[in-house]
Amino acid sequence: MYLQIHHFSHCVLLAVLLGLAVDVTSGQRSIQLIPQYPVINGAVTLRVTGITEEIVSFSWFKGPNTNAQYQILTYIAGSSNPPLTGLQYNPRITAFSNGSLQIKDLQITDGGNYTVKIQTVKAAHDIFVNLSVYEPVTKPKITGPTTQPKENDTVTLTCDTSKATTIRWIRRSAGISSEAKLSGDNKTLTIIVKRGDSGEYRCEAENLVSKESSDPYKVSVACE
Ligand SMILES: *[C@@H]1O[C@H](CO)[C@@H](O)[C@H](O)[C@H]1NC(C)=O
Ligand SMILES: *[C@@H]1O[C@H](CO)[C@@H](O)[C@H](O)[C@H]1NC(C)=O
Ligand SMILES: *[C@@H]1O[C@H](CO)[C@@H](O)[C@H](O)[C@H]1NC(C)=O
Ligand SMILES: *[C@@H]1O[C@H](CO)[C@@H](O)[C@H](O)[C@H]1NC(C)=O
Ligand SMILES: *[C@@H]1O[C@H](CO)[C@@H](O)[C@H](O)[C@H]1NC(C)=O
Repeated sequence: MYLQIHHFSHCVLLAVLLGLAVDVTSGQRSIQLIPQYPVINGAVTLRVTGITEEIVSFSWFKGPNTNAQYQILTYIAGSSNPPLTGLQYNPRITAFSNGSLQIKDLQITDGGNYTVKIQTVKAAHDIFVNLSVYEPVTKPKITGPTTQPKENDTVTLTCDTSKATTIRWIRRSAGISSEAKLSGDNKTLTIIVKRGDSGEYRCEAENLVSKESSDPYKVSVACE
């Protein structure tokens, strides 16, 4: 019985602590990117969070500061007119009454520093976020020797791909020789081949938004 009560009071204390934590964080204003890693040709919402007071007006800017030349648009609550547009506006951009901004058909040049100036009934807030637009990796392709290698020949396989942050080499149903050497970026794999190194090799390219694998590349070491 004592244990049960003890357990119960512990839970109440935890709930109280969590309640306090939520109150503190809800006061933080920030811009959340949805999705977190926006992709070229896709869409992103710059979601303004933490504004609890009624919004009177807001302006979005793209650039190093909030000078007039960097203005995207200005939205005035209760106005029946569409938002006023600035020099950085383009028709792929939409603003919502809660302050959030959506950009469709993303281009690399949409990346940069975005600032929203929000005027509420109580105060003005400047919130900014750095938007990066990501490109998927291109399908990797392996190139290798043009003639069949013999034992002890140096074979170099190259994984041709772009936009990858990580490249990995895989060999079908076997590990890659522990003697193999990788370049710093993993694009080339160099092996002084033994007959046991024959097999199908693939390379995999990955970044924050995508992952692609090459077609298999056959290495066949000639028997003497
Ligand atoms: C603001 O409105 C947009 C569109 O309705 C919505 O996607 C977004 O989640 C809203 N933001 C917040 C913080 O509620
Ligand atoms: C981004 O814009 C904000 C608001 O104008 C500014 O305070 C901040 O210094 C800028 N950041 C960079 C890295 O340019
Ligand atoms: C924004 O982020 C990108 C990628 O993380 C970085 O290269 C760039 O310097 C950042 N720009 C600003 C203004 O902070
Ligand atoms: C390959 O190198 C190993 C070790 O140096 C040697 O024992 C072997 O005879 C060589 N094989 C050929 C076909 O030259
Ligand atoms: C290189 O390959 C190794 C082994 O597969 C992997 O752990 C590492 O993350 C890769 N590094 C890069 C830059 O692709």
